[in-house]
Amino acid sequence: MIVVTGATGQVGGELVRLLAAAGERVTALSRRTVSFPEGVRHSAGDLAEPASLKPALDGADALFLLVAGEDPRAVLGEAVAGGIRRVVLLSSQGAGTRPHAYGHPVAFEQAVRESGLEWTILRPGGFDSNALAWAEPIRAHRTAAAPFGDVALPVIDPADIAEVAAAVLRQDGHGGRTYELTGPEPVTPRRRAAAIGGALGTEVRFVEQTEEEARAQMSRFMPAPVVEGTLAILGTPTAAERRVSPDVERLLGRAPRTFADWAARNVAAFR
Ligand SMILES: NC(=O)c1ccc[n+]([C@@H]2O[C@H](COP(=O)([O-])OP(=O)(O)OC[C@H]3O[C@@H](n4cnc5c(N)ncnc54)[C@H](OP(=O)(O)O)[C@@H]3O)[C@@H](O)[C@H]2O)c1
Repeated sequence: MIVVTGATGQVGGELVRLLAAAGERVTALSRRTVSFPEGVRHSAGDLAEPASLKPALDGADALFLLVAGEDPRAVLGEAVAGGIRRVVLLSSQGAGTRPHAYGHPVAFEQAVRESGLEWTILRPGGFDSNALAWAEPIRAHRTAAAPFGDVALPVIDPADIAEVAAAVLRQDGHGGRTYELTGPEPVTPRRRAAAIGGALGTEVRFVEQTEEEARAQMSRFMPAPVVEGTLAILGTPTAAERRVSPDVERLLGRAPRTFADWAARNVAAFR
């Protein structure tokens, strides 16, 4: 049995589908309930309340773990008590490149490494699906606003992260590894907006936000250090943050999907 946290999210939702299609027994864990593929067990649980994970973890073999809640050690303790042997953590590129700003994923990484379980850490860069923040303004007036419109980063398709996670959960040989996950090429926000326009068959106007406007918007849903870390990555990325990692291709035997591919598959959100 494989337990997938974040099962209602961009990565976890696709991971549940992939594992179920591969014939694995899957428990989808989330606070909200949505419809899951046939045969998938749903378990209500909250990573902020580690004891609530017991029913999902009891008797399971592997865990796909998201960074959420404040006590990663207690979460890993429940995993060990439940009999989990393998844990795959969805961390963040920032845990490696800007550990002071990304203390939350850093703490989860440390707890996973010290858990005694076989562990693998996935460190993705920014997701293609962050462009869903443009869905409403693009639907309403065909505009997309972001700061640093001409700074290119190798954003990644969450479906590729899910495919990597499925491989690492199902195959041996990934214990003790940390994988950096990126898309196939650096793409600027301006080009991402244009790619959505291309998928829609109409022009999407890109509006450059000031750093202050972006800070105010991000502060509504992110803690201050993460806002500053994210703005720094978006505006003045380091060489490591701009670099295309070979890990997705090594693990999947194919190049990562492009942003244009993500836009084409998700065009309905922008219509
Ligand atoms: N977006 C990026 O650019 C980026 C980059 C690097 C790393 N990441 C990491 O990737 C993770 C997943 O991203 P995503 O885009 O798949 O997220 P998403 O679509 O926003 O979904 C977040 C998921 O987290 C679950 N969740 C949140 N708090 C929880 C809690 N206390 N207990 C249990 N489940 C909880 C939600 O489930 P319910 O609400 O249904 O419980 C949902 O399934 C992020 O959390 C972040 O750590 C993201």
